[in-house]
Amino acid sequence: MTTYLESERLTLRPLAAADADLLIELDSDPAVMRYLTGGAPTPPEEVRDLVIPSILAGYERWGHDLGLFAAHEKDGAAFAGWFCLRPLRGGPREEAELGYRLRQAVWGRGYATEVSQALLAKGFTELGIRMVWAETMTVNRPSRNVMEKLGMTLAECIPTPDDMKTVEGSEHGGVRYEIRKEQWDRRQA
Ligand SMILES: CC(C)(COP(=O)(O)OP(=O)(O)OC[C@H]1O[C@@H](n2cnc3c(N)ncnc32)[C@H](O)[C@@H]1OP(=O)(O)O)[C@@H](O)C(=O)NCCC(=O)NCCS
Repeated sequence: MTTYLESERLTLRPLAAADADLLIELDSDPAVMRYLTGGAPTPPEEVRDLVIPSILAGYERWGHDLGLFAAHEKDGAAFAGWFCLRPLRGGPREEAELGYRLRQAVWGRGYATEVSQALLAKGFTELGIRMVWAETMTVNRPSRNVMEKLGMTLAECIPTPDDMKTVEGSEHGGVRYEIRKEQWDRRQA
């Protein structure tokens, strides 16, 4: 298994087509999907035919430097969820989106913060990233807490995408947080 990144308690590795069932199971938990779809699971065929191919296409575009990666606990190797650090398709390579989705069983242990901190360090010191951004629903407090603990700052309020208008809390819109390399550098000093 190629290791992309290691944090204190987790290891990240690239995904493969054979990982579809892990993603299907992750997205079948209504609590995980609450602020993404309102709780609806991602249909298995969508994971196999759209989600996985788009992740693999990302590796072709950026190599295994940037993209979406599976996270496993070092202790026991259980699948914990995924993290991404990736530019927008067609956007500048030095601006990357941070994202995370973890199994409910591992929430509240600080995993999202721990791995995201390691991802920011890798992006800013090894991969030439200049700015990292993340978006979530205004009401997704756990996700915003992670962004704030990373030192990301609220850049703007964003409208709710049409396909999320039925999600509870969507009337409050979304938020975009950002952190630039210079800000991150200052926090390390
Ligand atoms: C968002 C998510 C990745 C956070 O993962 P996590 O490993 O539990 O996060 P951490 O433990 O690193 O930090 C979460 C912080 O939010 C707090 N938190 C956790 N659940 C919370 C809740 N229901 N309400 C408010 N705060 C909450 C934690 O206490 C912690 O803050 P603290 O360390 O200051 O006390 C996880 O909840 C998740 O996968 N959610 C479903 C998918 C999702 O919404 N992804 C983001 C979409 S943009």
